[in-house]
Amino acid sequence: MTLKDLLNRNLTGLQLKVIKKTVAFIKSIGHGSNLTRLAKIYKTDKGGDHFYTPHYMTHFNKLKNKRISLLEIGVGGDENPKLGGASLRMWKRYFHNGEIFGIDVYDKSLQEENRIKIFKGSQIDKEFLIDVIEKIPEPDIIIDDGSHINEHVILTYKILFPVLKKGGIYVIEDVQTSYWPDYGGDYNNLENPDTIMNFFKGISKNLLLI
Ligand SMILES: C[S@@+](CC[C@H](N)C(=O)[O-])C[C@H]1O[C@@H](n2cnc3c(N)ncnc32)[C@H](O)[C@@H]1O
Repeated sequence: MTLKDLLNRNLTGLQLKVIKKTVAFIKSIGHGSNLTRLAKIYKTDKGGDHFYTPHYMTHFNKLKNKRISLLEIGVGGDENPKLGGASLRMWKRYFHNGEIFGIDVYDKSLQEENRIKIFKGSQIDKEFLIDVIEKIPEPDIIIDDGSHINEHVILTYKILFPVLKKGGIYVIEDVQTSYWPDYGGDYNNLENPDTIMNFFKGISKNLLLI
């Protein structure tokens, strides 16, 4: 006799239902702790293509079970309202007690679900960003995966970093655009102060001087 048969014979329907739900919950937590696997499941390029997920796990693991507030700029799918939301769904699964918020310049409301709320607006619109911040719990994590334009990334950081929770984590993806002219980057003048890399090098230099 299998364990399943034994349980079916000796437990009530309700007891079996509770066991099934508990097992599914435990499985989902175990599964949900590996962001590289979750990136594959939810089809965001934060895993395979970019290799960000191991780093995310290093820094986010301590927050995994907390009631965090995460704000990500860039929902994905550009102008197509039916596309996008991959990374938001991945964060929702990983931070199973968290509230996940997204910002995109296009309407992404079709991607909203329980614990995922999305705001439409640009990452360089200060009034819009402040309005979003007033509507959501103080963010523990902010991720900029939006336009990747150097000027935008720096401006967004200047507006949003001050409203990050004390001890929170601010992430900027795809900083290789620092060297891509189409994004306002520069590979000729490596000292150009307007690139993402040089802006942040400047900040860390100043911190070392404090
Ligand atoms: C790389 S995709 C985001 C991918 C998503 N985070 C993921 O990992 O699944 C970039 C998104 O940023 C949005 N975007 C581009 N410019 C923006 C801006 N100025 N403000 C806000 N979002 C912007 C685009 O519409 C696009 O959906």
